[in-house]
Amino acid sequence: MANSTNDMRYAKNVLETIGNTPLVKLNKVTEGIKATVLAKVETFNPGGSVKDRIGVKMIEDAIRTGKLNPGGTIVENTSGNTGVGLALVAAIMGFKAIFTMPDKMSKEKIRLLKSLGSEVITCPTAVPPDSPESYYSIAKRIVETTPNSVLANQYFNDLNPQAHYETTGPEIWEATAGRVDYFVGGLGTGGTISGVGRFLKEKKPEVKIIGVDPEGSILKEYFYTEKIGEAHPYLVEGIGEDMIPGTCHFQYIDEMITVGDKESFRMARRLSREEGLIVGGSSGSAVHAAIEVAKTLDDDKVVVVLLPDTGERYLSKFHSDEWMRENRMFDAKLLTVADLLKAKSSALPPLVFVKVDDTIHTALDFMKSYNVSQLPVRGERDWVGHVAEGNLMDLVLASKIAGDEPVEKAMGNPFPSLALDAHYADALKLLAEKNPAVLVKDGDAVVGILTKYDLVEFMLTKLD
Ligand SMILES: Cc1ncc(COP(=O)(O)O)c(C=O)c1O
Repeated sequence: MANSTNDMRYAKNVLETIGNTPLVKLNKVTEGIKATVLAKVETFNPGGSVKDRIGVKMIEDAIRTGKLNPGGTIVENTSGNTGVGLALVAAIMGFKAIFTMPDKMSKEKIRLLKSLGSEVITCPTAVPPDSPESYYSIAKRIVETTPNSVLANQYFNDLNPQAHYETTGPEIWEATAGRVDYFVGGLGTGGTISGVGRFLKEKKPEVKIIGVDPEGSILKEYFYTEKIGEAHPYLVEGIGEDMIPGTCHFQYIDEMITVGDKESFRMARRLSREEGLIVGGSSGSAVHAAIEVAKTLDDDKVVVVLLPDTGERYLSKFHSDEWMRENRMFDAKLLTVADLLKAKSSALPPLVFVKVDDTIHTALDFMKSYNVSQLPVRGERDWVGHVAEGNLMDLVLASKIAGDEPVEKAMGNPFPSLALDAHYADALKLLAEKNPAVLVKDGDAVVGILTKYDLVEFMLTKLD
């Protein structure tokens, strides 16, 4: 849609840059898979998400039908991304924008909307959709009491799936030259999957459309049984529902797959690290499901999976190691000794030790003040041994050693050592083999110590 004047190519405004996002082949997270898995990377939209596509469509229609006039206000209940799409339209077209959001949404999303000039009202997440406190109800009330305002209404406005029928679907069809066999995407409003599904099935009825639902959402159960179950809290943002959106046209969906928070976040982090795709948690859910599907397929099959939004919106959430640890989301297999060291309480210095000529008394004092039961012993050049509290006390009680004698006389073997990038399993093995502690090395320098206690505490509090 770029304009061209005297060979200059530019967009008339940022709204013209929405859509025509690339399809990018996934190479590493799909290791061992024969089928081609292509990601439709919606982070390339100017607002960083797939929802830019529907913002323009819904507002253009409100203007055309006279629901919104100059100086008016756009209102929406949004998990964030639709707000950004609408805020872009409001900024370019000169409208005001007010958004209601559930309070579980990331701070980045709220700040982003404010940076685009919008007003944001956060509402409790843990209330039913028909409660007067819900973000749906509050958005409705704002429209009722604000003159010249319109509710974009992404959950019931059919222009939402229509936008995907007109843009996302055809783009996938053209970019794959009609070779797409499976489309995998998450459902929030269901707009994306309904619009893309309808378009692709019209072109090629045998295309399979796979919906992705987070654990805790009611959509998958509804798809298979038409029963409305009970929703449970989950952490992935943007997908899953506690009600049935009017924009979700289940007739275009062939199968639904449930994906949990942990799998979603782990896959989103892998997409960043291994594929260079900085994406949100719902992209992780979608790729996790796409891989499940692709595992069963031959090499002539093409799977397209949609990545709805950018990971920059979640830097303080699952893209942060600390957040992953606090929320017990780490996969122990992927952890390194450096991760274990970072997780230790910062109340202690990273390494408490005694020198070979320090006295037994000093060693016992150190153990008491730092509340540790063993210490490594440092020689002139190297780590020469260790002392253990129980053993020192036994020796003193049996009068086999005096408090003013050097620790050298009572020390055991040096602790084994591991590099910072060694695996969790290596630390587990050494500590389970009766070593009370392991020294951690960065090159030749010892930078920390991991004790049995540290590892047990980590296993009990940070892993399942
Ligand atoms: C991050 C994210 N992923 C996925 C979706 C789902 O898209 P749709 O509402 O079209 O089903 C949304 C929708 O808000 C979203 O914000």
